[in-house]
Amino acid sequence: MPGREVFGEEELQEVSEVIKRGVLFRYGFDAQRQGIFKVKEFEGEFAQYIGAKYSLGVSSGTSALQTALLSLGLPKGSIVLTPCFTFVATIEAIEWSGYKPILCEIDESLNISTEDINKKIISKTACILPVHMMGSSCDMDNIVDISRRNNLFLVEDACQATGAEYKGKKAGTFGNFGTFSFDYVKVLTTGEGGMITTDDENLYKEADACHDHGHPHLENVPRGVETRKRKGFDFRMNEVQGALGIAQLKKIDYIIKKQRENKKAVRDILKNYEFITFRKHFDEEGEIGTFLTFFLPDKQKAEKFKEKMSENGITPGILNYWHFIANIESVQTREKFKKSREILEKTVVMEILIKMDVEKTIDGMKKVCDNF
Ligand SMILES: Cc1ncc(COP(=O)(O)O)c(C=O)c1O
Repeated sequence: MPGREVFGEEELQEVSEVIKRGVLFRYGFDAQRQGIFKVKEFEGEFAQYIGAKYSLGVSSGTSALQTALLSLGLPKGSIVLTPCFTFVATIEAIEWSGYKPILCEIDESLNISTEDINKKIISKTACILPVHMMGSSCDMDNIVDISRRNNLFLVEDACQATGAEYKGKKAGTFGNFGTFSFDYVKVLTTGEGGMITTDDENLYKEADACHDHGHPHLENVPRGVETRKRKGFDFRMNEVQGALGIAQLKKIDYIIKKQRENKKAVRDILKNYEFITFRKHFDEEGEIGTFLTFFLPDKQKAEKFKEKMSENGITPGILNYWHFIANIESVQTREKFKKSREILEKTVVMEILIKMDVEKTIDGMKKVCDNF
């Protein structure tokens, strides 16, 4: 996920405009900032890129999720359905919002199983929170349909999927809220940072207040004399993050294009080996190429394959603790998630970089496969 790989003059230029004026706060200080509002500008450009009416910059993907969930105003203890395979932040955000996460199995797409969503809906279920894992969209036609039929809110965790598409529409634009992460390992990075998107003006205003201690951000009313709309947090994005976001967003098409090219080159080689099968995609064209993910026939073979990759200088990704076991520990369920466990145990993941040495990687992978 290589936004960090393309830092250059553009980021320096954007950040220096902020530093020269010395205003790092996104609100106020009008005389000193001389018309420079980087977070606001980034929000506008991001909304346009994603295809949403409203965007709100926040301090992280985790705070994007928590702000979105709290802005729904669900009763305490409401159930939110989310996959057992996601970064633990998704679960933490649900729990710190006062709701109850119920985990669903994943399928061979490595995203939430719609079959399991259907099984797990009960009267206290209020929201579905699908996660577009590793740059590939969930089964959105089905998920939107389930949420409508059951009158459930839909919040998408697109933290690993900025720019991913499902049938020509960006991940994060199907539900009540989309949430994004710009932490240091993401496809677009502002060091730390995140974004919330929505088409609903009321939800946007709620989130806007929630992320900033309840400030309604009334036009022409000084911050110090505003009255409070609701309880909130300091989850604000700062101007340096906004500046980095503007520069990075200009590069995102290039980043995704290069990732897709590099991924395809390696995938084309692996296709020749019968013992390798690939992750299922609901929209392969719309996937952003941050990872190459494939399956070996079973856990033992996957472990052996990963060992051989490491010996040949190719580091395999690690998925099981922070993205699976920690989630199950957090919700303290007795459910074993047998199906998901079996899928994850035979999964091998490789991070795709812009500046990776594709030839060397292909040579290494060929060596591993030929001798396997
Ligand atoms: C699926 C998912 N959700 C949420 C987050 C949280 O994002 P952040 O690190 O910006 O808080 C991450 C970060 O890795 C993630 O992968």
